[in-house]
Amino acid sequence: MKKGHHGQWSSRMGFVLAAVGSAVGLGNIWKFPYMVGQSGGAAFVAVYLVCIALIGLPIIVAEWLIGRRAQENPINAMADLARSNGRSKAWVMVGVSGTLAGFLILSFYSVIGGWALSYLIDAGSGSFNGMGKETADAAFSNLLADPGTLLTWHTVFMGLTVGVVAMGVAGGLERASRILMPTLGILLALMVGYGAASDGFAQALAYLFAPDFAKLTGAVLLAALGHAFFTLSLGMGIMIAYGSYLGQQVDLLRAARTVAIMDTVIALAAGLAIFPIVFANGLDPAAGPGLVFVTLPLVFGKVTGGLLLGVMFFALLTFAALTSAISLLEPSVELLEERTPLSRIGATLVAGVATWALGIAALLSFNLWGDVLIFGNNIFDLLDKMTSKFLLPLTALGAIVFVGWCLKAESVREELGLSSGGFVLWNLITRFVAPIGVLVVFISSL
Ligand code: PHE
Repeated sequence: MKKGHHGQWSSRMGFVLAAVGSAVGLGNIWKFPYMVGQSGGAAFVAVYLVCIALIGLPIIVAEWLIGRRAQENPINAMADLARSNGRSKAWVMVGVSGTLAGFLILSFYSVIGGWALSYLIDAGSGSFNGMGKETADAAFSNLLADPGTLLTWHTVFMGLTVGVVAMGVAGGLERASRILMPTLGILLALMVGYGAASDGFAQALAYLFAPDFAKLTGAVLLAALGHAFFTLSLGMGIMIAYGSYLGQQVDLLRAARTVAIMDTVIALAAGLAIFPIVFANGLDPAAGPGLVFVTLPLVFGKVTGGLLLGVMFFALLTFAALTSAISLLEPSVELLEERTPLSRIGATLVAGVATWALGIAALLSFNLWGDVLIFGNNIFDLLDKMTSKFLLPLTALGAIVFVGWCLKAESVREELGLSSGGFVLWNLITRFVAPIGVLVVFISSL
């Protein structure tokens, strides 16, 4: 084992910020609202909240714990811990599938990051001014139909990601996050306030929080579970990688609670900002991935100071996406750096270019390759579904089963500093509740 081979977080605060930075991103503001819309509302939200609390939270802790014990990239971490605990070599698959999932997700994530950049420019040029719902729809469709523009912004976004990762994660980004993430929170709060004063608010509240459990199908369950993993950055080796930079002094349970709460609050706020606009303007909640991009411009084009607010919003959304994207690249980079002669910069470039290339296939599925279907899905949807609904749940399941059943109980208890009562509860959740929960959802969706 190459203990202490790489850097450490500068402080507990730095670590928690990085984890929140990874968790809070497009998943909260872009994906959560449209998934709620596609799944018919509050029943999805209810399942999602249960998944975060009972399954997501313990799995964050499990992934950090694996990383912290091993102090290595996710693949080596699983290999070493399996060996030192006398378990099968096959556990290394948890690290492999996690790293692969991160790579696949980043390819399409960067395309959406590109949409945010493109909207940032539109917001600044005043093109939202007085926008109505037809023009908002048309603007979004035009963006999707134009491979050149999509490619440009995807390239810029990926370039930014690679640049930050190559320079090393700590310094500037940690400082910038301290200011920019709270600013994003404030801006969202303002937009929720705007929504609260509008006609659509009561309907939005009911839509989000008054579940009609008749709408709960296996597919909705799986979508909610998969999204809980996506939004917490689980099942990708990311939290394992972050844990590997972690010293013993950090209380993992408390840190995990902080991350889960922040992430959930931001997602719900995004929902409360967007759905009032949807209902007040008679838009379709099930519009899909374009939902944020066709709703918010309507407001920015109408309110006083909308130009500035629009620019700020899309800039902050891009920033939030960037802090997630760098975390998506990190496991592949850590792997290449430790397993090949490549330097950090070389490893970042190789991983970045490979992801970028795959991203091109994803963006072409909105236009030129729209008819290229694999198992009935275009490439973008395939990448999304294969990761959220398959790789993430399976990898996360592997991580929690490994921590619950394979690591020596004493060492886990020590890592978490639990009392004996707390440890019984922890075991109950990691050995039974969380794994069975994942399996039940899986099976019910078949
Ligand atoms: N959690 C991030 C979000 O919600 C996305 C992400 C997924 C980041 C997977 C890292 C890994 O946007």
